[in-house]
Amino acid sequence: MKTIHSIQELRATLQAERAKGKRISLVPTMGNLHEGHLQLVRQADGCSDIVVASIFVNPLQFGANEDLDSYPRTLESDQEKLAGAGCDYLFAPSDAEMYPNGREVQTQVEVPGISNIHCGASRPGHFQGVATVVCKLFGIVQPDVSVFGEKDFQQLMVIRRMVESLYLPVEVQGAPIARNEQGLALSSRNGYLSAEQLEIAPTLQRTLQETKAQILGGRRDYTQLEAEAYSKLETAGFSRDFYNICNASNLLPADETCRHLVILAAAPLGGARLIDNIEIEL
Ligand code: PAJ
Repeated sequence: MKTIHSIQELRATLQAERAKGKRISLVPTMGNLHEGHLQLVRQADGCSDIVVASIFVNPLQFGANEDLDSYPRTLESDQEKLAGAGCDYLFAPSDAEMYPNGREVQTQVEVPGISNIHCGASRPGHFQGVATVVCKLFGIVQPDVSVFGEKDFQQLMVIRRMVESLYLPVEVQGAPIARNEQGLALSSRNGYLSAEQLEIAPTLQRTLQETKAQILGGRRDYTQLEAEAYSKLETAGFSRDFYNICNASNLLPADETCRHLVILAAAPLGGARLIDNIEIEL
């Protein structure tokens, strides 16, 4: 696997691959890689000839009081993991390479509506930062296919909408959520949890499973189910962010006629803000 830091070098390298008829995939990440990221790389490897992964801690998607400075940066061990998972090229640009005008970002991509609810309501500007950097990465790499995790369900939907409305020639694939043995969704931010908090953290996924079972059992009083979930999570030690039972096609509140639902949840625990979700087909 080759690590490339400059846009120019990456484009020249990929142009040569494309000229040979190779199908190129892209897996965008912010690094500090775990098994969830590596599954995306393996999925990309299975449907393309050349896998490009990117590692870039994108300042544009972090709020002023968030963990941009403390976000774990572990390039060397990430390189080893990527090479083992079948990645061909790692693109690891600097901030200046991605944003040559510094804080004066020249063009931003906004996917309205969906970007301002759930995670977007808790983190204003977050999805604009995500859409902008992913659009730039698509422009740089020009992948045939790009793989994103279903753990960030709303992010995946933002990217699908962006690709659809800008007619970007890339196939977006979702990949299932990777979890630890206790059911906790893997996340680079789990490293912020103490041993005691790591014991509590799987309660988020268990609560989602319990709500799903109630809905499959016939309950449709979604507001009440959300209230019960908040109370369970707060008793376990989480702070409240959101726990929303949604229509999976547009992420608006689910009503009784809705047959494909997703519960989106974000729950701060100690220094980490955990997110998770569960889909329900009725
Ligand atoms: P990051 O949090 O590093 O995640 C990179 C990719 O890995 C995303 O598509 C995310 O959904 C996926 N992922 C993370 N944890 C996962 C898990 N437990 N199971 C399955 N997939 C998982 O998401 C971002 O970075 C950034 O917003 C990015 C898209 C790179 C734009 O900056």
